[in-house]
Amino acid sequence: MFSADSTKEWFKSFTDGYRVEGALHPMLELKLRHSRRVSAICSAIADSMGWNEYGDSWLALTAGLLHDVGRFPQYSMCGTFFDSASVDHGCLGAEIITEKFDWEGIPENFKDNIISAVRFHNKKTLPSDLKLGEYKWSCLVRDADKIDIYRMVQERLDNGTIYEMLPRHRMSEGLSPELVEEIRKTGTGSYSNARSLLDYRLIQLTWGCDLNFPVSVVTLREEGIIERMCGDLRPCGIDDLIDSLVSRIYSMA
Ligand SMILES: [Fe+2]
Repeated sequence: MFSADSTKEWFKSFTDGYRVEGALHPMLELKLRHSRRVSAICSAIADSMGWNEYGDSWLALTAGLLHDVGRFPQYSMCGTFFDSASVDHGCLGAEIITEKFDWEGIPENFKDNIISAVRFHNKKTLPSDLKLGEYKWSCLVRDADKIDIYRMVQERLDNGTIYEMLPRHRMSEGLSPELVEEIRKTGTGSYSNARSLLDYRLIQLTWGCDLNFPVSVVTLREEGIIERMCGDLRPCGIDDLIDSLVSRIYSMA
């Protein structure tokens, strides 16, 4: 029989394996907390949408809590969270849980849903051949992950610690014309074109167009997070791009 408690116990013992003299590296401590928050956000979104079929609450909690397990070996082995410079942490996480999570008593389709949600949470787009359940739970984790990062960035902007999270963005100011051009053409922006904090904020704004559930948009809107990003970007002289991104985001809610 599966339970929320057994998932939490597995996650605790998995992450305890990365402690040195009882402590996680501060970067991994951040990921541990992020994972717990994403799990709670997944549960809140699933509840608000009335997903209450057998196993739904376990699926929401588990998909969220396990989504970043690949971060732990990634950072331990490579000392970075940049997938392009190390490993794809979604794929690595999927491999780890496939082999190491305790799947005893868990229906096969639930297992597939969790593994896919972990594997695909960080991909630019979802593959078109996913089964419906895999698609649904992947969408949930992708929204919850974005919501937590939006909140974390807003909090860090408010308390002045944003450059601890984005150290290399301190070096540049303004918007990168290559990034603006890329977003105008494709609707998304690459980190390789992001140099400044404003570049990062513009990329974050494009993520809003990739949200899957209206409740995610409503949550961010109520917290003033979308407006705040727009406010930061307004002085950059790209009002037409901001307006078109924002109207795409709000058209969902
Ligand atoms: Fe992730």
